[in-house]
Amino acid sequence: MTRQKIDSLRKELHRHNYNYYVLNNPTISDVEFDAKMRQLQALEEKYPEYSDSASPTQRVGSDITTSFNQVDHQYPMLSLANTYSEGEVTDFYQRVQKALNEDFELVCELKYDGTSISLIYENGVLIRAVTRGDGVKGDDVTNNVKTIRSIPLQLQGNYPSKFEIRGEILMPWAVFDEINKEREAQEEPLFANPRNAGSGTLKLQNSSTVAARKLDSFLYSLLGENLPFTTHFDSLLAAKSWGFKISDAVRVCKSIDDVFGFIRLWDIERKNLPVATDGIVIKVNDFAQQKLLGNTAKSPRWAIAYKYQAEKAITRLNSVSYQVGRTGAVTPVANLDPVLLSGTTVKRASLHNADIIASLDLHIGDMVYVEKGGEIIPKITAVATDQRFMLGDKVYFIKKCPECGSELVRYEGEAAHYCPNENACPPQIKGRIEHFVSRRAMNIEGLGSETIHLLYENGLLKDIADIYTLKVPDLARLERLGNKSAQNIKLSCEKSKLISFERVIFALGIRFVGETVAKKLANAFKNINALENADYDLLVQIDEIGDRIAQSVISYFSDEKNREIVNRLKQYGLQMSLSEEQLQEKTDLLEGKIIVISGSFRHYSRDEYKNMIEQHGGKNAGSVSSKTSFILAGENMGPEKLRKAQSLGVQLVEEEVFLKLIRKEKGSDNVQMKTLF
Ligand code: IVH
Repeated sequence: MTRQKIDSLRKELHRHNYNYYVLNNPTISDVEFDAKMRQLQALEEKYPEYSDSASPTQRVGSDITTSFNQVDHQYPMLSLANTYSEGEVTDFYQRVQKALNEDFELVCELKYDGTSISLIYENGVLIRAVTRGDGVKGDDVTNNVKTIRSIPLQLQGNYPSKFEIRGEILMPWAVFDEINKEREAQEEPLFANPRNAGSGTLKLQNSSTVAARKLDSFLYSLLGENLPFTTHFDSLLAAKSWGFKISDAVRVCKSIDDVFGFIRLWDIERKNLPVATDGIVIKVNDFAQQKLLGNTAKSPRWAIAYKYQAEKAITRLNSVSYQVGRTGAVTPVANLDPVLLSGTTVKRASLHNADIIASLDLHIGDMVYVEKGGEIIPKITAVATDQRFMLGDKVYFIKKCPECGSELVRYEGEAAHYCPNENACPPQIKGRIEHFVSRRAMNIEGLGSETIHLLYENGLLKDIADIYTLKVPDLARLERLGNKSAQNIKLSCEKSKLISFERVIFALGIRFVGETVAKKLANAFKNINALENADYDLLVQIDEIGDRIAQSVISYFSDEKNREIVNRLKQYGLQMSLSEEQLQEKTDLLEGKIIVISGSFRHYSRDEYKNMIEQHGGKNAGSVSSKTSFILAGENMGPEKLRKAQSLGVQLVEEEVFLKLIRKEKGSDNVQMKTLF
């Protein structure tokens, strides 16, 4: 009965997922969908014996970090010959015509600008997802790929028992814009384009962050032994019927004119797509003909990619200005005569850093090429020297901070220049305050950048600790702030005193200490005193904390001014240690252990076991390798994992034994445990 209910919920949710993410045509409301998902989650938690890695609940990701295993591709992942010239497309057509010497069809598709992925399905279930890597072997990113809603975990219809399908993982423009906005607010380096953002996301260690980034996919190539199709086009139609997201922009072309028609149509239409494309791919349709044409060492002879030119415009450089951020990094910005580029008016373009300025040999008044390829921020790619009639002043990167006049510094190995005057350079101070109050840090509402600027100008806010000394009447006197808003700000400041220790660490704005590192520091040191006094050796012992972060933490706390600020924050009552609850839960019992979970369990769900491992300082990994310390083995463990464990001599630990071990119960010191620790 329960089993049937679980199965039917899974089926139903798979179907709704497909309707929503692949067909773009939902048939139930989000609220109804969520309710069903919660119902399934509750049942799966209660009956872990029915757990299934292909369940729709597995898409949410987990907080557990996994390291990626390298996996060999069954068929090498080749690349495509590229061209920007229509003439070369005609050459390709003629080459194929000559080599085949019979009728042939071509299939035209969009060239999606993302990260290529290989997906392996067995008996209708996604079992592995591997990146391209070097073409011969790639990273096993299955856990992350499972969070992508348009990739089916369970197929429908009449699919072969074993096959591979390849395609592209993409970050939609809308998600990319949103993430970059957030990164800008946090002064983190922006992603240059959705491709980089998407491939970075796919390599994240934490699959719940991957899930939150809403990646999408298009599949375009089916591989396997004895597949029941003779043409590429038919294989795509079949893959579509099994639930894969296959583009509608796929055409069978019978002549070279048809191909050029497709190229021209999509040069315009692709700009309306929600994801990035950078060209079209032309493939010989018939599999037998593909085989006849064969491959070169790098790419198939039966396909070619025609790439669209990045959009360019030419305009005048009027001046270069410099912005100083919270970390003191100085960004050069080109101010341009407004020019229309890909539908938007561009007035400013990033010049990135001193090296780029020097390599462009820029002079004020120059006509410059501005490009917006797959990138959101336009960049200057060259100077039109043939249009240089008068030579303006040469652009040299500034030597002094435009805000406070300090001599700029450039750290070894970094492209950026920094203003080192952390404690007195206004944009750095204001930037740090903005970061401190931001939503993911102390979440203090009502203190926008303009209010912070006013408070700073009026001498009411000189550092982050001053926030807690602000008084309602002082706030209410400010331009545009009434009594009510002033009271709300004060209330929000008071509320922020309950924000957890890890977020307080993040809020301090220590260089290179983002949310994840802050969490690691909080868990490792447990309170601020220990963190303040941590030395280099202690810091680099922590997982994922290397030289750069360790140096930065030490340098932050060796500054008297910072220590004083932290002291004041302590006095004002901020959370400066892990809560009692957090402290009780954490142990280092599994410190340094890499544990794989496999099979189904009686007492707790897999996710609960994953949490337990992390709570006790261990690491959960998705697949068995020589680094695996042991396998937490439930019933019906996957045969592949079992084989691998046996061949590597990795021990299996039963659920009950594991529970005894972490509860430090009697009997946990049995022989098996002794061999593990
Ligand atoms: S077919 C043998 N079709 O472009 C290569 N590739 O430059 C078969 N790509 O690595 C690839 N859209 O990541 C193919 N419709 C499409 C594509 C596509 C994007 C990417 C793919 C490949 C790269 C080659």
